Amino acid sequence: MNYHITQLITEEEIDRRVREMGAQISEDYAGKSVHLICILKGASFFMCELAKRITVPVSIDFMSASSYGAGTESSGVVTIEKDLEDPIEGKDVIIVEDIIDTGRTLAFLKQVMEEKGARSIRICTLLDKPERRVAPLTSDYVGFTVPDKFVVGYGLDYDQKHRNLPYVGVVEFTGQ
Ligand code: IMP
Ligand code: MG
Repeated sequence: MNYHITQLITEEEIDRRVREMGAQISEDYAGKSVHLICILKGASFFMCELAKRITVPVSIDFMSASSYGAGTESSGVVTIEKDLEDPIEGKDVIIVEDIIDTGRTLAFLKQVMEEKGARSIRICTLLDKPERRVAPLTSDYVGFTVPDKFVVGYGLDYDQKHRNLPYVGVVEFTGQ
C-alpha cells in the first residue's frame, strides 16, 4: 500500500518537551535515584534523550514485550521477549515508553514490575493516544497527546521502518 508521512511534531518541539520532562523528573525525584526501564525498540530514542536531561543519578535497563491478537490491535496477551537484567527491588522505577495506545502492554508490564518489588513505579511516555485506551492506565509523564492516527518517527515504526526520523509524523495511506 502506498503512503506518505506528514510531519506532526517537529524535532525542535520534541527537544524542548524532552528537556521539560527531564527537568520535571529531576525535581520530582530530588534526593533520590531513578531507574529508567526502556521498552524496546520504540522507546530507545526517547529514553536516551530523556536520560541526558535528568540531573539526579540515573540507571537504565531494557525490556521487550509483544502483544498478539487478531489484526493490528493488541490482544492483552503480552509475552516478554527480553526480560530485565538488573533487579528492581527497592528501586524507584520509571517505565519509558514511546506511545500508549490501548494501554494493555503497559498495564501488564506495570503489574509484573510491582510483583518484582519496585519501591515505586511511574510511567513516562513520549506520546499518548487516550482515545484508544482499553486498559485503565494513565501515564505520569506525557510528552504529547496525539489523535487516533498511526504515527512514526523518533523511535516509532511502521513495519520496522522510519524509526530514525528525527520528528514524529502521521502515516497517510493513499490506497494504491
Ligand atoms: P498498547 O498500548 O498495548 O496498545 O500498545 C502500545 C504499543 O503499540 C506501542 O508501544 C507501540 O509499539 C505500538 N503502537 C501503538 N500505536 C502506534 C503508532 O501509532 N505507531 C507506531 N506504533 C504504535
Ligand atoms: Mg512499543
